[in-house]
Amino acid sequence: MCGIVGYTGHEQAAPILLDGLSKLEYRGYDSAGLAIEGKENIEVVKAKGRLRVLEEMTDNGNALSGTCGIGHTRWATHGVPSVVNAHPHCNKKKTIAVVHNGIIENYQSLKEHLIKKGYEFESETDTEVIAHLLDRYYEGEPLEAITKVMVRLNGSYALGILFEDHPGKVFAVRKDSPMIVGSAPEGNFIASDVPAILKYTRTVYFVNNMEIVCMEADNISFYNLDKEQIEKESTTIAWDAEAAEKGGYEHFMLKEIYEQPKAVQDTLSPRIKDGQIVLEELGMTEEEIKKLRRIYMIGCGSAYHVCISARYVLEKLTKIPVEVDLASEFRYRDPILEENSLVIVISQSGETADSIAALKEAKRKGVRVLGIVNVVGSSIAREADSVLYTWAGPEISVATTKAYSTQLAACYLIGIYFAKIRQNISDELYEKLVEELTKLPEKIQRVLGDKERIQWFANKFAASKDIFFIGRGLDYGTSMEGSLKLKEISYIHSEAYAAGELKHGTISLIEKGILVVGVATQPELYEKMISNMVEVKSRGAFLMGLTTYGNYSMEDTANFTVYVPKTESYFTTSLAVIPLQLFAYYVAIARGLDVDKPRNLAKSVTVE
Ligand code: AGP
Repeated sequence: MCGIVGYTGHEQAAPILLDGLSKLEYRGYDSAGLAIEGKENIEVVKAKGRLRVLEEMTDNGNALSGTCGIGHTRWATHGVPSVVNAHPHCNKKKTIAVVHNGIIENYQSLKEHLIKKGYEFESETDTEVIAHLLDRYYEGEPLEAITKVMVRLNGSYALGILFEDHPGKVFAVRKDSPMIVGSAPEGNFIASDVPAILKYTRTVYFVNNMEIVCMEADNISFYNLDKEQIEKESTTIAWDAEAAEKGGYEHFMLKEIYEQPKAVQDTLSPRIKDGQIVLEELGMTEEEIKKLRRIYMIGCGSAYHVCISARYVLEKLTKIPVEVDLASEFRYRDPILEENSLVIVISQSGETADSIAALKEAKRKGVRVLGIVNVVGSSIAREADSVLYTWAGPEISVATTKAYSTQLAACYLIGIYFAKIRQNISDELYEKLVEELTKLPEKIQRVLGDKERIQWFANKFAASKDIFFIGRGLDYGTSMEGSLKLKEISYIHSEAYAAGELKHGTISLIEKGILVVGVATQPELYEKMISNMVEVKSRGAFLMGLTTYGNYSMEDTANFTVYVPKTESYFTTSLAVIPLQLFAYYVAIARGLDVDKPRNLAKSVTVE
């Protein structure tokens, strides 16, 4: 996910574009750039790092003169964060400049075709292909070139384009990635999202798929793929600026909870082609996978909880023993690592100091390291022998939700992929699991529909002093994540216990009215879980049950029950965690706390 802006009007463009980009940094912030139409030619300035680097380079835009331009803030997908990979990208003559939000799925074949035609590439990006394609088809008429390029692109794109010999004009195109047009007295705007232009206007046009925009200082025209002009109605935006950055949600955390269906979809779909899991990015041969004798999974916080849950899945599917470690422990315990093993380091930021140190310790011991990381080009992504990126997009809220869910999805892919290669599962089970994976996003969406009930229940327990989560097997891992979510944003003391462990001491903590959340999604452990829930209920606990549809007997024991759709037992964490995220969120809201920036915490713990 990236942020694009464009402006043409009566004011200097660069400061306006930088201001717009600053409102879109939540969409990506690893590099940024501007292209401004100067007197003679298009001037392009790009910088790696946060937007403020570009602002400093251009004296907040005052060093660039011109009243027409485009800008971009990047969340790397193809090519690490760098100046050369930053947008805008240009044709060789620098007479065409492009900013892009989205992913061009067929960029490799287009790139090979263009190279055969003599085009030279500077960057690793998919976007640069668009700049050269426009050059290839441009004969003085932008619409002609743009439509020829559109029919050759597969994937998603929102584009801002400048043509040097069409001064004062910004062209824009949209397919699947968001794009709006804003009309103001100062001039006209394109942007990925409303926040970028709210300071100047609330009059916007929403661009539909395959529509083309030609914007001048005092005129905006829209065209379809046949180059026919089309009329569009404007909309007046009622949002305030802050709400707009969160897409209308009150907090980034809630926005990211609701982005999980898409985030999981975006992580799974590029790796499932015609019903087959494709994981070349692991960089492992089938022989190496067959020879694997042990897997070590390492992470911190929620990433560690993914490791805990993934162990149950990977061991059951691959029959490979899996060890799980907190990164902060692994790095100092001088671990004994077997030959023919694989270390998997999981990290949203890819910059967690303990996880980086654990990765280096594993490499020091000569073991292959795979990173499961959300930030392209981050330290762990670069240091690992191979990386399986999660495509959750930027995660702003300190409490992780969508990144956690995409990490789980990545682990499912690995487990099924390894199991097939090691012939631990039948072709029928393989097909069934892959098909069920593709249904996960829609099932996550269905769980989100239970928001109101969970909010009602959260309000009843917002004044709690202690809340416990219990589960067995996979549900124990889910309970750990639910407990951490609650602790880190509501500051309520909470623990997760393996339900079978209660009788060994912790059940002494149960007093009348204490909330205990029983997670019971594993069929073979359901009855055991009911017994454990009865144990705590008989000692005064108030019980919330969390199970799958069909287990209505839960209501004979629990005071309040939340159901999630049935799925393959391997995948239930992806559904059961959603109500726990919502529960934590609404408890914190009821307590009037800063959900997105909880006290004492940081989004990425880059220190020990
Ligand atoms: C999770 O909600 C926390 N913010 C925290 O535990 C986090 O998961 C942990 O710090 C690991 O971060 P990473 O995934 O970026 O390595």
